[in-house]
Amino acid sequence: MTRSLTLTRPDDFHLHLRDGAMLAGIAPETARDFARAIIMPNLVPPVVTGAQAEAYRQRILAALPDSDFVPLMTLYLTEATDPADLVAAHRAGIITAVKLYPAGATTNSASGVRDFDKTRPVFEAMAEAGIPLCVHGEVTDAEIDIFDRESVFIDRVLDPIRGATPGLRVIMEHVTTRDAVDYVRSADADLAATITTHHLIINRNHILVGGIKPHYYCLPVAKREEHRLALLEAATSGDARFFLGTDSAPHSDDKKECACCAAGCFTATHTMPLLAEVFERAGTLDRLDAFCGHFGADFYGLARNAGQLRLERGEDPVMFPAKIETGAGPVTVFDPGFPVHWRVVARS
Ligand code: DOR
Ligand code: ZN
Repeated sequence: MTRSLTLTRPDDFHLHLRDGAMLAGIAPETARDFARAIIMPNLVPPVVTGAQAEAYRQRILAALPDSDFVPLMTLYLTEATDPADLVAAHRAGIITAVKLYPAGATTNSASGVRDFDKTRPVFEAMAEAGIPLCVHGEVTDAEIDIFDRESVFIDRVLDPIRGATPGLRVIMEHVTTRDAVDYVRSADADLAATITTHHLIINRNHILVGGIKPHYYCLPVAKREEHRLALLEAATSGDARFFLGTDSAPHSDDKKECACCAAGCFTATHTMPLLAEVFERAGTLDRLDAFCGHFGADFYGLARNAGQLRLERGEDPVMFPAKIETGAGPVTVFDPGFPVHWRVVARS
């Protein structure tokens, strides 16, 4: 029996599009199903000024000539960021948010923040101007176990920043722990979290048991099953503070299948079918629309999309491409490890 599902055209509130030949190859994968996405600024060199963000936005649009996809740009916060520049870029409509990477936390984060006191004036200006802060929530201290870096970040960095900056709107990106879910739930206002598709599907066993699987390695790294279940519960609960940010992060296969594998899972191609399968298995298909199409837009103060996306469920598993060929090399598409029966059949 075929069943169908009509959703608000979704948004992706955390996406890596890269640049050059990689951008050209993978941007259509997101633009096919999504109306808008928050675009991560961790290029080399990073997107640190309004002028760079605008130039990058133009390159994204040029990579999508026949699309009405809207890239929502971000600036990469450094210790040298000038609050006035940032507020001006926001006021001019060039940027939607600012991204905080602790220095050394992840891909291309070397220019990120080491001393959070230095960025305090920026946080204050952002709170005043109502500019949301997207946070990669992991400490980088060598002595902190990689599986504890998110929860330690909440205690040592995020909570003090929020306490010192009333009114600062924060999105904890790609949460991976029950601790983060609990922290978001405990906050009274101005805090939300994105959840990725892949963190709803894999735990750390998927990466490590039976040999190391580089295409499941991302940052923050997937944690124990109990944490995946907490994310699943949050995503499917109907709580508006949790919404989709795929963190789809393409790396060419040579950068993944090597002695020092780059962090990132690439899910842009089939995120909506995967999520339909995940929400259906959880018995919460009726909550998928809000998770992908309502809550994020509401938190960011954006109008919900007028368009729709229709999915159908068939009896047979759907075959998705194993790889996307790009001018920068092939990119392996995330394998959920279970059959997916949903496909997108119409977009408006
Ligand atoms: O897995 C990840 N990949 N996590 C990040 O924070 C960055 C991203 C990337 O840019 O590849
Ligand atoms: Zn990311």
